[in-house]
Amino acid sequence: MSPRKEVIGGVSQSDEENFKRGDMSNPKALPSDSSLDIAIRPKSLAEFIGQPELKAHLDVVIRAALGRNQSVDHLLFVGPPGLGKTSLAQIVAHEMGSGFRVASGPTLVRGGDLAAILNALNDGDVLFIDEIHRMTKAAGEVLYPAMEDFKLDILLGEGPTARSIRLDLPHFTLIGATTRTGMLTGPLRDRFGFVSRLEYYDVDALSLIVERSASILGLEIDSKASYEVARRSRGTPRLANRLLRRVRDYAEVKGTGSITLEAASLALEFFGADVLGLDKVDRTILETMCVTYRGNPVGISAIAATVGEEPETIEDVYEPFLIQAGFIARTPRGRVPLALAFEHLGIERPIQGLFGT
Ligand SMILES: Nc1ncnc2c1ncn2[C@@H]1O[C@H](COP(=O)(O)OP(=O)(O)OP(=O)(O)O)[C@@H](O)[C@H]1O
Ligand SMILES: [Mg+2]
Repeated sequence: MSPRKEVIGGVSQSDEENFKRGDMSNPKALPSDSSLDIAIRPKSLAEFIGQPELKAHLDVVIRAALGRNQSVDHLLFVGPPGLGKTSLAQIVAHEMGSGFRVASGPTLVRGGDLAAILNALNDGDVLFIDEIHRMTKAAGEVLYPAMEDFKLDILLGEGPTARSIRLDLPHFTLIGATTRTGMLTGPLRDRFGFVSRLEYYDVDALSLIVERSASILGLEIDSKASYEVARRSRGTPRLANRLLRRVRDYAEVKGTGSITLEAASLALEFFGADVLGLDKVDRTILETMCVTYRGNPVGISAIAATVGEEPETIEDVYEPFLIQAGFIARTPRGRVPLALAFEHLGIERPIQGLFGT
């Protein structure tokens, strides 16, 4: 397997290069927020903060594969949005010195869609399939033999004269990302050599992420301010980085540019960032449970209908954080809000719900 670096699929690298060169004379070369995203994305395991167990596992898997001069086993990353699944996939390719190809589950409809992508791979490449649970069954059928035996079955012709031929594929590593393990079929899940769940980050890890991003962006931030940003980031690095940029905007426009605790607190208040990091949908969910249902157990579909989101989105994206942070609990009769939810919304908790909760 030859080490090879390649432009990351679907991502413009020119902004990043301008940014790295510090070419600020041409206004067009000024980095946009999305190019800043690329600049602050961790590129190696060492730069990736938090998730210590997952990092330790990946480190062993990668080093073992490098030692054997083989490609890494297929990997599946599971977890809510913004916790670092895409970043980790790029890191694996980077650490292996492999090419990185990107595909997205919803675009893999016919078997041929996937066959074309597989056929274009080189030896050792990492193929990243985001939202892999949204790939169709037809695409899955092409993927299974490719993952297991590195073979591609192609059907030639139609009707009684049709015949199938088997092509050899290069040894590649499939990295799947999904917010939904429940939606993956058993046969697909079983074909991954390593399945890993990303957890929400604690405030200390998020503070380090904020400090790292601030230093890449050339911002002055004191440690109390980065802690304040981290505390309101809903356990999610993507949100921490987004809040940091808004705090930077505020400090530049209304202050001296340097980010003190006071500047950060004013900025976060100005932009309406919730003290515990909840977003609008989180708050609507809690209001639905605490006010509309008065704290009684409620089913996920009733919550979804009131909030105007899909039940799966509530279950995968919103609920895990609300449970982890102690706002709500699952019971056999449905979800119930806990004392913290009432307290956070500033609502008095009904003495007893209809069902005695
Ligand atoms: N551990 C980390 N250390 C530093 N920065 C991180 C870390 N994890 C994520 N980030 C930052 O958070 C942003 C979001 O991460 P990423 O795009 O990898 O998440 P994701 O899990 O793929 O999200 P989605 O499910 O929405 O695709 C990235 O721009 C990256 O800079
Ligand atoms: Mg992603």
